[in-house]
Amino acid sequence: MKLNENFAKMPGSYLFSEIARRVASFSSEHPGREIISLGIGDVTLPLVPAVTKAMAKAVAEMGEAATFRGYGPEQGYAFLRNAIVEHDFAARGISITADDIFISDGAKSDCGNIVDIFDVDNKVAVCDPVYPVYVDTNAMAGRAGEYDPKTGRWSNLMYLPCVKENDFIPAPPQEKADLIYLCFPNNPTGATATREQLTEWVDYALYHDSILLFDAAYEAFITDPNIPHSIYEIPGSEHCAIEFRSFSKTAGFTGTRCGYTVVPTALERHGQSLRAMWNRRQSTKFNGTAYIVQRGAEAVYTPEGQSQIRANIEIYRGNAALIRQGLEEAGLKVSGGENAPYIWSETPNGMSSWDTFDLLLREAGVVTTPGAGFGPCGESYFRLSAFGDPKKVPQAMTRIRIALGR
Ligand code: MLT
Repeated sequence: MKLNENFAKMPGSYLFSEIARRVASFSSEHPGREIISLGIGDVTLPLVPAVTKAMAKAVAEMGEAATFRGYGPEQGYAFLRNAIVEHDFAARGISITADDIFISDGAKSDCGNIVDIFDVDNKVAVCDPVYPVYVDTNAMAGRAGEYDPKTGRWSNLMYLPCVKENDFIPAPPQEKADLIYLCFPNNPTGATATREQLTEWVDYALYHDSILLFDAAYEAFITDPNIPHSIYEIPGSEHCAIEFRSFSKTAGFTGTRCGYTVVPTALERHGQSLRAMWNRRQSTKFNGTAYIVQRGAEAVYTPEGQSQIRANIEIYRGNAALIRQGLEEAGLKVSGGENAPYIWSETPNGMSSWDTFDLLLREAGVVTTPGAGFGPCGESYFRLSAFGDPKKVPQAMTRIRIALGR
């Protein structure tokens, strides 16, 4: 018997597990101390009434012989896939069809599982800093090479530095990458890519025969009409891009679990349909998202669902504005948080990002996310999430200012 040796190469634990461990240990040493979390991007507002009403109705249906459902259709129920097509794509003039949509239990699983359909020998490019799931899942699959603890980088990955000099948006590299992970609005920097920038990436991918793995989990936070919500707003992208979407941040489904992946029928390589491959992978390893949850997700697209989730997103946008203002008043340089729920800040006085994390936890009782956890270019930065409890965000910012002596 042999184990997957790639796991032995993985450094430490998953970023948010490490943060949870440090917070739990601090809390047990300081019982009674109120901790405010602006760390992991987990929502705090409850599901909206349109969603819970639809889910309650679906629960009742499941308890009646006439309306009970067993296994669902392998790509998800048509009622949800059609609602997605109409609202997320047709409404923006995009010709994605219900056949291209695969309902899942969330974008994290799909971003991680998509590596199954690609050969181990592909060259993978990731932003630095980056959502760790893209890197770790490739490392587990043996596609990342060796980890160098000195540089914090894997030998076979191509890193695209996202730094203040390029406004945290990477330009396509000179060399060829086969698979490129892009996330806009970005986690962790909150940067957004313009139509022109995304067009450069689509042109690059078409020229090199590469595939863009586009994570659009945070698109609901875009208010600027010039920022694309979907990679499929860019002509030609249906031949080179897979897109991941999530109800987690859009509609508060972090605990409920629902997302979807778009693999366009037009996406082919070496005479093979990637849509057919993903269908084969999902129908073999996944038995679908619960009917009750899919009914809840469908309700997000009703007029009342839309106005209720929009109201929640406005509350989180208000959090983002308060966080930006609080950090600026504390004398820090910040970016993001405008068309995105994440605020990216330089650390005070060039402190290391884990030291800043520890300082803010200890002195302010506020959980943040250290930039270095997202990659070497995240060093000297930390991330704040706008998904915190809106009643506590003003207090968190006051505590941070005091802890930083401003
Ligand atoms: C984050 O905080 O980066 C996200 O919540 C992680 C996730 O969505 O899995």
